[in-house]
Amino acid sequence: MSKPLQQDFDALAPETFDSPYAVYADLRARCPVAHSDAWGGFWALMGYEDVRRVAGDSTGFITSVQNVVPKVAFTGRRPPLHLDPPEHTPYRAALNPLFNAARMASLEAPTRRIVVDLLEPLLAKGEGDICADFSSHLPIQVFAHWMNIADEQARVLSEVGRDYNIAVQANIDDIVKAASLQLYDMAKAVVEDRKAKPLDPATDATSALLAVRYQGQPLPEAMIIGTIRQVLVVGIIAPTVMIGSIAVHLSRDQALQARLRTEPALIPAAVEEFLRLYTPYRGFARTAVGDVEIGGRAIAAGEPIALVYASANRDETKFENADQFVLDRPNIGEHLAFGRGAHNCPGAPLARLQLRVALEELLARTEGFDLNGEIRPTRFPEIGVLSAPMVFTRSEAAR
Ligand code: HEM
Repeated sequence: MSKPLQQDFDALAPETFDSPYAVYADLRARCPVAHSDAWGGFWALMGYEDVRRVAGDSTGFITSVQNVVPKVAFTGRRPPLHLDPPEHTPYRAALNPLFNAARMASLEAPTRRIVVDLLEPLLAKGEGDICADFSSHLPIQVFAHWMNIADEQARVLSEVGRDYNIAVQANIDDIVKAASLQLYDMAKAVVEDRKAKPLDPATDATSALLAVRYQGQPLPEAMIIGTIRQVLVVGIIAPTVMIGSIAVHLSRDQALQARLRTEPALIPAAVEEFLRLYTPYRGFARTAVGDVEIGGRAIAAGEPIALVYASANRDETKFENADQFVLDRPNIGEHLAFGRGAHNCPGAPLARLQLRVALEELLARTEGFDLNGEIRPTRFPEIGVLSAPMVFTRSEAAR
């Protein structure tokens, strides 16, 4: 019988907004392929090269057993994340074109309107929680536009999605489950609507999935519903956390805040560096199909492996001064905030659009903003800000 593995780090240890990065730096230095006993035990790859290589190898490392640590899915297989290629391929082929440049350009004006409508009450009051009052609403409303969801459904989605969003990050299982089932019902309703009245598959995700013929057959309806439900969730949590982290960073670095305010052309590059520095999905999981050795550690087939994107993106051997914000790094394009390989994020263009527009409007409509209370951090599998009270000084132009 193999002897039990020693625990290299405790994934359940209490954290602050900053503390996980110090833990990961230590692990990268002394134990870059680390084991934790949390959630039944899992491996965590901390270094850039290991994470990149495993994310890029969907034959040797699959997502269909477990795509995240801790394993949260309890309602069946949801494409594309829970499927391995080639079963995964038709779902991505249907979804990818819906994030193309033309579609993103058409979403810019609605996104800006949503951002401004959400920001204005906060700025008028002069204070509020950047996550609870702003960033937890934004991605859901943008998503509703992208999905062409009717106003009434969008309103329900906004409420349920926000409950789900907060409950997942606060690990409140009962609410997660209840909200998850409601999200399934919503996904079903959208599929029913589109079956009755298809929209243009070039601009509508559900119609595109319904139009797919794979090996001559339509995709199973349960899997289409699962896809909508999956996209719904992966698409709303990360931007919420990420905007909180950006706002905290800019509160702590007022000089950078002022610079981006006077030079908004730098915002897209800043967003990219923030994605590296505050990678909101700490890690997704894979399972090795056979016994493997990574970094000198023996990992058995079937054991969950977290690819810790948030640690890989701060690996000094890849990014010089990795803990620092550096605008226009020469290799910024190689960060792993959106993953790598078959499961890389199809929604990256929509994520970048939201982050850019949110930051543009927040900076343009304020003379300054600052933290005004305690930061509450998120937990595995996210990393970043769950709640951050702030004060805002509205700019003259916005009054
Ligand atoms: C800051 C925002 C976002 C970040 C950092 C992010 C990051 C990621 C990452 C790291 C993955 C890879 C998962 C893996 O390795 O197993 C992923 C997958 C995915 N993301 Fe995003 N995401 C963001 C926003 C969005 C948005 C807005 C959407 C859609 C509206 C979206 C849709 C998806 C989907 C459908 C997948 C699954 C892809 C697959 O399994 O083939 N994401 N995302």
